[in-house]
Amino acid sequence: MGLIEPTIHKNICLALIAIALVSFVMLFFVAAPYGRYHSQDRKWGPTVNSRLGWCLMELPSVVVFTWIFCLGSHISHAAPLIFFTCWQMHYIHRALIFPLRLGGTQSRIPLVIIILGFSFNGANSYINARWISELGVYSSQWITHPIFICGITIFVLGLILNLQSDTILLRLRADSSAKYKIPHGGAFRWVSSPNYLGEMLEWLGWAIATWSLSGLTFFLFSAANLVPRAYWHHRWYRDNFPNYPKKRKCLIPYVY
Ligand SMILES: NC(=O)c1ccc[n+]([C@@H]2O[C@H](COP(=O)([O-])OP(=O)(O)OC[C@H]3O[C@@H](n4cnc5c(N)ncnc54)[C@H](OP(=O)(O)O)[C@@H]3O)[C@@H](O)[C@H]2O)c1
Repeated sequence: MGLIEPTIHKNICLALIAIALVSFVMLFFVAAPYGRYHSQDRKWGPTVNSRLGWCLMELPSVVVFTWIFCLGSHISHAAPLIFFTCWQMHYIHRALIFPLRLGGTQSRIPLVIIILGFSFNGANSYINARWISELGVYSSQWITHPIFICGITIFVLGLILNLQSDTILLRLRADSSAKYKIPHGGAFRWVSSPNYLGEMLEWLGWAIATWSLSGLTFFLFSAANLVPRAYWHHRWYRDNFPNYPKKRKCLIPYVY
């Protein structure tokens, strides 16, 4: 590790946090144009089928993360190995299994979103993999520390909530129609976007367990994308379904 790398690493984190703050504000004005907000008028340029799009966009989080992780000198220590396992549990599903679960979807993603997502995932994989395997120092006692245990617990609960909620949504398309329906069951009892709540809990848990600027950066970036998207989804459901459950909140049960 050169002396300059920790400075470069920190500056990449700070730059991504700045981009997250700008995105957070912008995404309340313009809903990210994929899924139900994708219009056919091609104003966002060429598009790719969602199955291929998700795979391309998320693949750096499997491949680049593994490559950077393997270059580190702490890769056989307990904490980095647990972090690696958590990350790959999420991203092997997101990049390789989730696209297959989309079935014969007709949904499309603009290429520009895929390029932005691909670039972010590459940078995010570098800052996080490099931190856990080289720049960060985790003693063998870290895995019994309450901060680590609390963080990993939040991560696992978030992963379960994200998977369960996405499964409920994907089952609504079991008849291969492109129609949207009101989701029921699981945490949809309380909020319109429990899959996003689960995803945010995962990266909050990651930030806590790794106790790092790179983890915090990823959590803020996820929240900057998912909080506005949850706002748009909630509004869309209310506008499109007169019988949408009145007590259902947007993202955080009983609060928002
Ligand atoms: N970490 C991050 O920054 C980040 C950013 C974005 C997404 N993600 C994660 O990626 C996953 C997918 O995100 P997304 O934005 O595509 O989620 P989404 O809008 O909730 O949609 C998920 C899937 O379910 C379908 N669907 C959603 N609502 C439906 C309904 N009411 N009736 C029928 N089908 C419905 C969607 O079809 P359509 O595509 O046709 O709408 C899509 O295939 C989530 O787990 C999310 O947490 C993470």
